[in-house]
Amino acid sequence: METVVSGIRPTGNLHLGNYFGAIRSFLDMQHSHNCYFFIADWHSLTTHPHPDNIVRNVRTILAEYLACGIDPEKATIYVQSDVPEALELYLYLNMNAYLGELERTTSFKEKARQQPDNVNAGLLTYPTLMAADILLHKAVKVPVGKDQEQNMEMARKFARRFNTIYGVDFFPEPASFSLGATAVKVPGLDGSGKMGKSEGNAIYLADDPKAISKKVMKAVTDAGPQEPNSIKPEPVENLFSMLRIVSSEEVYNHFDGLYNSCAIRYGDLKKQLAEDIVSFTAPIRERILEIQADEDYLDRVVREGAERARESAVRTVAEVRRIIGFR
Ligand code: ADP
Ligand code: TRP
Repeated sequence: METVVSGIRPTGNLHLGNYFGAIRSFLDMQHSHNCYFFIADWHSLTTHPHPDNIVRNVRTILAEYLACGIDPEKATIYVQSDVPEALELYLYLNMNAYLGELERTTSFKEKARQQPDNVNAGLLTYPTLMAADILLHKAVKVPVGKDQEQNMEMARKFARRFNTIYGVDFFPEPASFSLGATAVKVPGLDGSGKMGKSEGNAIYLADDPKAISKKVMKAVTDAGPQEPNSIKPEPVENLFSMLRIVSSEEVYNHFDGLYNSCAIRYGDLKKQLAEDIVSFTAPIRERILEIQADEDYLDRVVREGAERARESAVRTVAEVRRIIGFR
């Protein structure tokens, strides 16, 4: 069975971008693959050196993961910091990761710009830690959104380089995976770009209907099409992309038709979109609240997940030590 690994940093609640970009693929794969889904708490230290309550954040994300339908009986769900073997692999990979290539990654450059007073070595080596997460289980598929493409290229490069340097065929090259033919980018509704926690434009799975409606009604639009069948400007296209993601084809076609005949009323579209988002998130939100209240269950899930993840990690790291030449 093929092995799948993916992680999400516990820097905020899960939003629709996380769900449609990554989690939906996990849900599909957990039935047919050997899946490891983890909470990347070490990674979050690169941007949040003082997580104000890391244990609570991890719990929250864990409950949200489970509420989405990730099944701990089928998949291994664990917390990154419960599996210290990843750090040893991170060290070995760092020994063959070059400053130039790490400095050139767009996410490093972007983060360095966003936090000029904290350009730490963890930020620089973010891609090696991510590669360690993946290679630790010798994963071949990694469900992630489009924004992770460059990190994935680095992971493949580090896997190949390890094999070449030590003359082995040990690590497989991991591929990004998305459910559809191409990676999904869930847009923000504030005009341009993707939906994200750091972008401050996210609609969260745990948002109540009122909050969702408020966010959707505030979405940026324009004065409306001036002639039939005109091209949609980005903010409007983003609304339609969202409609395509959460609403039925019928609803999408209805509003697309109205747009093309210049009869669209954005208020109606937004109202429908908000309703469709709420019907999608409401059951998840209910489960989040239930699962969060069950501390014993959450404890058991992380404990058992850590045990299973460590079994695989210990095996890989022992092999890596042997390959490098440690006894
Ligand atoms: P954020 O960007 O909100 O900080 P993360 O970086 O923690 O979210 O992303 C976790 C996962 O969700 C990654 O696999 C990422 O590719 C995916 N993801 C996040 N935002 C989006 C989006 N708007 N569209 C598609 N996938 C996304
Ligand atoms: N870098 C990913 C993100 O920002 C999170 C992550 C860390 C990850 N390690 C990973 C994703 C390993 C997939 C596999 O979203």
